[in-house]
Amino acid sequence: MNDMTAISVVGLGEMGTALADAYLKAGHPTTVWNRSPAKAEALVARGATAAPTAADAIAKSDLVILCVLDYDAADEVLATAETELDGKVIVNLTNGTPAQARRTAEWVTQHGGRYLDGGIMAIPPMIGGSEAFVLYSGPRVTFDAVRNDLTVLGNAAYQGSDPGLASLHDLALLSAMYGMFAGASHAMAMAGSDDAGFRSLLAGWLRAMADTVADTAEDTNLDMQAIALRNIIEASRAEGIPVDLMTQVQALLFGKEAS
Ligand SMILES: NC(=O)c1ccc[n+]([C@@H]2O[C@H](COP(=O)([O-])OP(=O)(O)OC[C@H]3O[C@@H](n4cnc5c(N)ncnc54)[C@H](OP(=O)(O)O)[C@@H]3O)[C@@H](O)[C@H]2O)c1
Repeated sequence: MNDMTAISVVGLGEMGTALADAYLKAGHPTTVWNRSPAKAEALVARGATAAPTAADAIAKSDLVILCVLDYDAADEVLATAETELDGKVIVNLTNGTPAQARRTAEWVTQHGGRYLDGGIMAIPPMIGGSEAFVLYSGPRVTFDAVRNDLTVLGNAAYQGSDPGLASLHDLALLSAMYGMFAGASHAMAMAGSDDAGFRSLLAGWLRAMADTVADTAEDTNLDMQAIALRNIIEASRAEGIPVDLMTQVQALLFGKEAS
């Protein structure tokens, strides 16, 4: 008999499918549900059990992983299962805002459930690997109770008891990522190249700079940085490349825009 924790995964988009697969690979009895039932078929072929409704999926396991498009969808799904939530641990890995996380936490708790919110800092192929990490927030006692089962998905990083903290830190980390991607696009536009050679140069440079983020020492050479930004803006203009991003960066870092 399989004595591993039974898991239900609700929502089988790209991410939910990866989450369910990680539990199947780790040997957990895994029940799955998706609004469009066809997405459960491949998982059933790999050993999952398909539930006919979200309420049935939630009824089947004490630990439920919810991962749908947004909180409107998550709340809609939970509302169909409100009589099944008593005593269940609901881990909502849907991307949303701290306010949405707090509202859903309150609603689930009012219906007898134990709620953890989460932010997945990985893309589907990384799930279950050593590079994947997931941020969690909610009652510490709930996190500790399911921590071992959550590590199947990746490193489990507890952020605090306020259910909104995982979302807040998730969105903060994503904002840095989008800033990086925007900067990388600007770099490729300036270089007039997105070929493999330039991309490799860029990736190496970003990796080296990423390591300096952990360094809390004050950067004292602000004059030098201000001149570099001014030169970037001047050279970009000369190449006919829009400078809106860089003037915003300049304003953010130095409180002024290019003259
Ligand atoms: N993919 C990533 O790289 C990644 C990384 C980190 C976090 N995430 C987060 O993970 C969550 C899911 O992302 P995903 O990549 O799996 O998205 P996806 O492939 O677009 O899948 C969306 C899922 O939400 C379901 N859904 C949408 N509206 C629904 C509703 N009203 N009721 C019930 N189910 C509904 C869809 O069901 P149907 O199949 O029936 O349409 C599908 O299962 C998102 O919050 C996303 O931000 C994703």
